[in-house]
Amino acid sequence: MIPALNPLVLSLRESATLAINRTALDLRRAGQPIFHFGFGQSPFPVPEPLQEALRRNAHQKDYLPTRGLPELCQAVAAFYRRGFDYDFSAEEVCIGPGSKELIFQTIYLVEGPLLIPAPSWVSYGPQAALRGKSIVPIATRRENGYRLQAEELDRACHGLGQCQKVLILNNPNNPTGAFYRRQEMEDLAEICRAYQVLVISDEIYAMLNFTDRPHSSMAHFYPEGTIVSAGLSKSFAAGGYRLGVLLVPKSLQLVLEALQSVISETFSAVSAPIQYAALEAYGNFDAIRPFVAKTSDIHHYVCDYVYRRLIAMGLNCPRPEGAFYLFPDFQNQREQLRCKGILTGQRLCEDLLQEAHVALLPGGDFYLAATALGARLAPVDYDGSAALAAWPGKEAVTEGMARQLFPRIIEGCDRLADYLSAL
Ligand SMILES: Cc1ncc(COP(=O)(O)O)c(C=O)c1O
Repeated sequence: MIPALNPLVLSLRESATLAINRTALDLRRAGQPIFHFGFGQSPFPVPEPLQEALRRNAHQKDYLPTRGLPELCQAVAAFYRRGFDYDFSAEEVCIGPGSKELIFQTIYLVEGPLLIPAPSWVSYGPQAALRGKSIVPIATRRENGYRLQAEELDRACHGLGQCQKVLILNNPNNPTGAFYRRQEMEDLAEICRAYQVLVISDEIYAMLNFTDRPHSSMAHFYPEGTIVSAGLSKSFAAGGYRLGVLLVPKSLQLVLEALQSVISETFSAVSAPIQYAALEAYGNFDAIRPFVAKTSDIHHYVCDYVYRRLIAMGLNCPRPEGAFYLFPDFQNQREQLRCKGILTGQRLCEDLLQEAHVALLPGGDFYLAATALGARLAPVDYDGSAALAAWPGKEAVTEGMARQLFPRIIEGCDRLADYLSAL
């Protein structure tokens, strides 16, 4: 039987990040030395207090309330009040199976085109497509560190007329490691207020901040129109736990109510043991804070190391200020690549994987033109447990220690440098 499928689904392909992960791991299993910089997963073990809480709560078997365990909602609201200066109450918190699903449901239930600063995370566009929603990529500039500027947003909103507009803004950013300045956020908030844009502020990397500036968010400057998404996956290193949180202000009560209805008719509630484990993470954060600080320091060290190497290779790349990504641009090598028959980012990444055994993701997967030669590099291919156990602090790492802790990061950079010098 050939079943007829929903045409909206037919336009989708496997998520680019998951696809590159599969290819790279298949090649590695086949014996190829692969430097896997294609998949953005935290390399660290789940912090022990979280694991312990999960073990303790294996017996929790009852369905929990649709929006989440009330004590967890309370703890999440308090966590964001204390750590981020947000003003959300427990009634404005919703728990879901990963922030990805919560972002999808939000996109699903609000009207209007989705504005996406380019480059941005791969999944926003396909999620909008699943709902038959149009997307409006807004090109950002390398000179601005790929951070969306108010004039760029203004121009895009102006061109869309009167309809409701939805902006998704990821800070710190996947794939560039960009981290917004306070003034930029204030300026963007002004535009959003003027056009009554509904903002989804994707803050999944908010605790991986390499600067000494506090995290600025639309939730500070445009709270009435901003929904914040976050979760356990990145700074708590528990992506596989699949727990995300959404903070929806009272002014957007209709969104929260609709979300509750959709959840009640779909996944019902997040698994109870995981919610109790998350209660430990958010409710007793002081026990996990040292883990978050140390792992963030490691990400910072590795990102800085790779950044210096990329610049030394003659690539353009803004210095990452958060998350665990870099976005080098091979534009300076376009001519040499053209002589090799490489005209697109996709071909470049295929060639890099084949010849240098380095896995990157092409900029086209992040809403850039197919011919753009920017690519995402996720420097997380190392043994996180070993790095965590031996970590002396970013300033105290010797070259020998770096070689021992991050051999594939260093060799991957060497391979990339060899590839470029052979062009
Ligand atoms: C920018 C961004 N947002 C959201 C997510 C989804 O995270 P999760 O569904 O694990 O909470 C990811 C995961 O890679 C991401 O990179």
